[in-house]
Amino acid sequence: MVQHPAGIDGAAVAALAEERIDWRFKGMPSWAFGLTARELAERRPNLFDDGFLGPLVVIERPALEHNVRTMAEWCERAGVVLAPHGKTTMAPQLLAAQLAAGSWAITAATASQVQVYRAFDVSRVVLANQLVDRAALRWVAEELARDPRFEFVCWVDSVRGVELMAEALAGRKLARPIDVAVELGGHGGRSGVREVTDGVAVAGAVAASPGLRLVGVSGYEAALSHDTTPEALSTVDGYLRRMRELTVRLAREGLLADVDQVLVTAGGSCYFDQVAAVLTEPWPDGLRVLPVLRSGSYVTHDDGLYRRMSPFGRPHELTGGETPFRPALRAWAQVTSRPEPGLALLTLGRRDVSFDQDLPEPQLLRRAGGPPAPLESCRVTALNDQHAFLDVGSGTDIRVGDWVGLGLSHPCTVFDKWQLMPVVDADGATVVDLVRTWF
Ligand SMILES: Cc1ncc(COP(=O)(O)O)c(C=O)c1O
Repeated sequence: MVQHPAGIDGAAVAALAEERIDWRFKGMPSWAFGLTARELAERRPNLFDDGFLGPLVVIERPALEHNVRTMAEWCERAGVVLAPHGKTTMAPQLLAAQLAAGSWAITAATASQVQVYRAFDVSRVVLANQLVDRAALRWVAEELARDPRFEFVCWVDSVRGVELMAEALAGRKLARPIDVAVELGGHGGRSGVREVTDGVAVAGAVAASPGLRLVGVSGYEAALSHDTTPEALSTVDGYLRRMRELTVRLAREGLLADVDQVLVTAGGSCYFDQVAAVLTEPWPDGLRVLPVLRSGSYVTHDDGLYRRMSPFGRPHELTGGETPFRPALRAWAQVTSRPEPGLALLTLGRRDVSFDQDLPEPQLLRRAGGPPAPLESCRVTALNDQHAFLDVGSGTDIRVGDWVGLGLSHPCTVFDKWQLMPVVDADGATVVDLVRTWF
């Protein structure tokens, strides 16, 4: 496993700014139809005064840049490399920023996501999943043959899966074998072998398959723990230690002999401090290990799930003097109705924002060109497809036409609702860029 950062085609990413804006992208001002994204951004329009249509979800640039930089610096100090999960944003511009900050690879969850990355020539991809789809496997094999710089690894967790992969590749002239890592899971968790001995059996099946090469061990601790109680943290710790045990076992049995450095990968955005701590403890027998984190949601952080769960939001072992991640996504919606004293309806619904972890959190109020003011004593109680129900605390002055700014929980299910998102500067209103997504 090589340690240098992965590459991306900078020209292909830059070309996104030449895409023309029109009605296909919700929220864009009609005066900009026919302009390119770059031309719009160069005019530095104001989100509230220059024709954008609500609801909108914006990316706050200073917070985003802070998060990318903070995580990159922390990983370097912690002795791990980062393969950020790209499924959070599916935005090549943001992947490019993560790679420019030194990311080792980009992680995908599906073969289609790998295809998006490859359209931008991302040179190293971790597919954090099994890949038994014949068509997808053959496409990966062709891609490896077409581009000698392309490195790819996916996961295996059953002998049957390995056999299916081997069958799909049989009789094909492979430029290189497909790299795989044995996934360890845990009882009550998601995919991954449940026992170390099962992992050894799967690795043995890989060794018997000429089209495949075993490069390490993979896992996802957040499939086993969902909060930050001492029990949950201890479950994560125990699981990571089992990943170590499987790695050492595979090495001792000679099943990792084809690589000079063994890949061991875990880590979302909830427990990455523990992952780094356990995976960087000294390895026995001079085993050379590359610990790879796959955090994705850290990039925008949030005002809900990750505010509760991120090591940057709770007592933690991060001692480098980091400032915590900052939420970089904000939704803006207008009050369209005040039908009852305690109720306001906003132009924002399930089509626009995440609702799978927490409902949006009202935080700011903007009235007719004025500056935003903190909004307390209001809460969103329900979302319909295109409406939010705002419970208005007594004494709170909220009027039809006001804009409400909301914090969001779980970025992954926000980005997928937007194909083009305004990026705003420190004032929260000046649009300086547009970010394109592909889901
Ligand atoms: C296998 C895997 N790795 C990494 C991640 C990234 O986790 P997070 O979104 O908390 O950063 C996910 C998220 O679902 C995942 O499923």
